Amino acid sequence: MSTVRVDPARGLRGELRPPTDKSISHRAAILGAMASGTVRITGYLDAADTSSTLAAVARLGARVQASPDAIVVHGAGLRGAIASGDGPIDVGNAGTLMRLLPGWLASQEGRSFTLDGEDSFRRRPVDRIAAPLALMGAEVVATDGRRPPFTVTGARLRPIHYEMPVASAQVKSCVLLAALAPGGASTVSEPEPSRDHTQRMLAAAGVAVRRDGRHVSVEGAETLALEEIAIPGDPSSAAFLIAAGVLVPGSRVVLRGVGTNWTRSGFVRIVQRMGGLVAGELEEAPGDAVATTEPVADLEVAAGPLVGTVVEAAEVPLAIDELPLVALLGCFAEGETVVRGAQELRLKESDRIATVVEGLRGGRIASHGDHRLAMLGAVAGLASSDGVEVEGMEAADVSYPGFLEDVARLR
Ligand code: S3P
Repeated sequence: MSTVRVDPARGLRGELRPPTDKSISHRAAILGAMASGTVRITGYLDAADTSSTLAAVARLGARVQASPDAIVVHGAGLRGAIASGDGPIDVGNAGTLMRLLPGWLASQEGRSFTLDGEDSFRRRPVDRIAAPLALMGAEVVATDGRRPPFTVTGARLRPIHYEMPVASAQVKSCVLLAALAPGGASTVSEPEPSRDHTQRMLAAAGVAVRRDGRHVSVEGAETLALEEIAIPGDPSSAAFLIAAGVLVPGSRVVLRGVGTNWTRSGFVRIVQRMGGLVAGELEEAPGDAVATTEPVADLEVAAGPLVGTVVEAAEVPLAIDELPLVALLGCFAEGETVVRGAQELRLKESDRIATVVEGLRGGRIASHGDHRLAMLGAVAGLASSDGVEVEGMEAADVSYPGFLEDVARLR
């Protein structure tokens, strides 16, 4: 484990292209594997989590070819997943992989698949996907009833109307993928809108996807037809540079090619509400229309004084991975910053309520193997008066390899 000292910065200047989107990359590989024919993915994120996804779909029968400018996935088809090799399918540290892949596996009639991850990963719950998949007719047997390793046995699935107890894009996506198998429509109702990349990609693949307020429906499908997927810059990775640019006096940073999907732009809107200077065109919520593409823009960030804000529960899913940064900004803002209804943070790569509270006490922060905590510590160091030591900085590689090098380029 590496401990890195990040010293205060005098002003960050320049422009950068943040890494491409982790969420969309996972989906591109999984839907590519489910497709019939060939999908060409440009900008696939080259990081630990998304490498786990390519390896997993290759074990399940998709053919994955990497060329310098694209990843090409030859799909195994909606009903064509067959595990090769010995041992469980390794999901590494990737929660999105662990929760989306079973949506495909659940419809492989009579075939069983065991999934497992790194040791530190075994605390992350899978009961949230096991429940709807069981209602659809699949069997999911998990350790202690709720954790990896777990085994999915596919079946002829029934359509479902699933009322999600929490707003989770991973659970929604898992159910939508499973719902492609049965004849007839299935509906997932979410308490609040969460990220909608799966809906967009399915619609682009020819699936009938509808949205009616908080209800999302899909029809069963025979095939997925995807040809090209271009992955935009990851707004969750960009968020660390936005926070640094807003906090370090004298900064002026331009971030190129950032995804501005409205279901991922919550953080930028919160920063703007706090008085932070972030300019760029964000997508507006499009009502019930289902888009088939992902919007992209350049964002310009400058430092300035901040005021506290209140983040209500409805806004939490739109900024879920950026809430640790809201806490950091709150430390520098005038007045109080309050986040409500964020208990889902306890189930992320670390218990992000506990690790953020502990980490922001100052001076030294432990990543606990959590990429977003490592980068939070580094940004805190840039904005601090005395610097911050980050224990376990290498965790950043899960989503943002080269994060410190990018920061150094702006100093
Ligand atoms: C993700 C959804 C969110 C998010 C995670 C990625 C996704 O998790 O925190 O980093 O790609 O669907 P939940 O669906 O559990 O909220």
